[in-house]
Amino acid sequence: MDDFAHFAADASGASASEHCAPAWSPDSWRTMPVQQMPAYDDRTHLADAESRLRRLPPLVFAGEVREMRRKLGEVAAGRGFLLQGGDCAESFADFHADNIRDTLRVLLQMAVVLKFAAGVPVLKVGRLAGQFAKPRSSDTEKQGEAELPSYRGDIVNGYAFTPEARRPDPERQIQAYAQSASTLNLLRAFTDGGYASLANMHKWNLNFVANSAQGARYEDLTNRISEALAFMTACGMSDLTTPSMARTTLYTSHEALLLGFEEAMTRTDSVTGGCYDTSAHFVWIGDRTRDPGGAHVEYMRGISNPIGLKAGPSLQPDVLLRLLDILDPGNEPGRMTLIVRMGHDKVGAHLPALVRAVQREGRSVVWSCDPMHGNTVKAASGYKTRPFDRIMREIETFFAVHHAEGSYPGGIHIEMTGQNVTECTGGAQAITDAALSDRYHTYCDPRLNAQQSLEVAFLLAERLKTERLKRAATVPGGR
Ligand code: PEP
Ligand code: CO
Repeated sequence: MDDFAHFAADASGASASEHCAPAWSPDSWRTMPVQQMPAYDDRTHLADAESRLRRLPPLVFAGEVREMRRKLGEVAAGRGFLLQGGDCAESFADFHADNIRDTLRVLLQMAVVLKFAAGVPVLKVGRLAGQFAKPRSSDTEKQGEAELPSYRGDIVNGYAFTPEARRPDPERQIQAYAQSASTLNLLRAFTDGGYASLANMHKWNLNFVANSAQGARYEDLTNRISEALAFMTACGMSDLTTPSMARTTLYTSHEALLLGFEEAMTRTDSVTGGCYDTSAHFVWIGDRTRDPGGAHVEYMRGISNPIGLKAGPSLQPDVLLRLLDILDPGNEPGRMTLIVRMGHDKVGAHLPALVRAVQREGRSVVWSCDPMHGNTVKAASGYKTRPFDRIMREIETFFAVHHAEGSYPGGIHIEMTGQNVTECTGGAQAITDAALSDRYHTYCDPRLNAQQSLEVAFLLAERLKTERLKRAATVPGGR
């Protein structure tokens, strides 16, 4: 179902002012201070891999990217909701059609819950088909006496703690490209080929979820939608008369961290002259690389994609405004998504000042809540985990702040998987510290499993419904 089908699309999709940013080129970041870059020892090999990438076809197309940006503009105006989720880090080893399908079906389920219970169009975005590079808090990792370069994601080096695996290898960028292309191909088939049709929504419930309380709640909701669909069919409306009911769009996203790779994937659109990072529809700047004078901000300011900016507790309002001036000088709706990742105990204290600064300057942004990255703790068992109640509390506080400030809570950004993992403690299954070792499979941060993701969707739907009713009561013609 294309949720935004009823909003008129601009035929060319291009904005009149589109061009590559002034005094910018895809490689101008190379003159700026850069953080989180791997130390490649063979620069010739690196340059060769990057030049091969430059000749490969784009993974996404400028028209799709513009369309997504337009939809994000609707979200920024309070007329939609952004659902962004997937792995913390995709890996070469876990690359399998079933994993991709299962992540997609949980995202589709979450979208159905949000749409039906809250009545908002949902813009679905995967941390998928390119989410490989990881920022690290330290350049090296110590195990006993041994010290090796940190694992920086499969696009850079290997996970195994050996000197061979940890050596950054430029060939991995080519493999990441190939895996992304193949993932996107499968996603396009699933979303266009009928799998994502509402007629299939009963089938999206994964077996291990079906017997749970969340699964039953989902089943109940889909039964009600089926009744509504039967009514609409009787009125003469079906996926034959309304083809958008049978398909959907899933956009791709990742952190634009490995700048040589992103530079090599940058293309100039022949229609509009705009520069696009064609490695994904949406890319974001991480919390560790958002220095206004740094290389990551320099690269991102020149591309025409919609972009995200992670906002952790150390981000000050004046720095946020400076970043918005650099990254979105035209204040164009849909360009900026602020992904707030403060932690359950900090969001209430830090977010209001950011919201007020943005409102004072009349800035158009999508406010999205990442309740994962500020809530990571080390369990007694030694595993990195995220207590589910803290994740839920951060979401609740995020909504409460926006409610109080009169701003719109427009999105959620989560690390999740369709696999039955035990990585975040708590939730209706009450996963304990001791049970984390049962199925702890992540290569990086702990993810919500399918049941926990559905639980999040039901909470969001309730909060969004309240928000929508408030708007309908206060905005003339509000929806
Ligand atoms: C991430 O999204 O995986 C990540 C590293 O986030 P942040 O930059 O917010 O820490
Ligand atoms: Co992460």
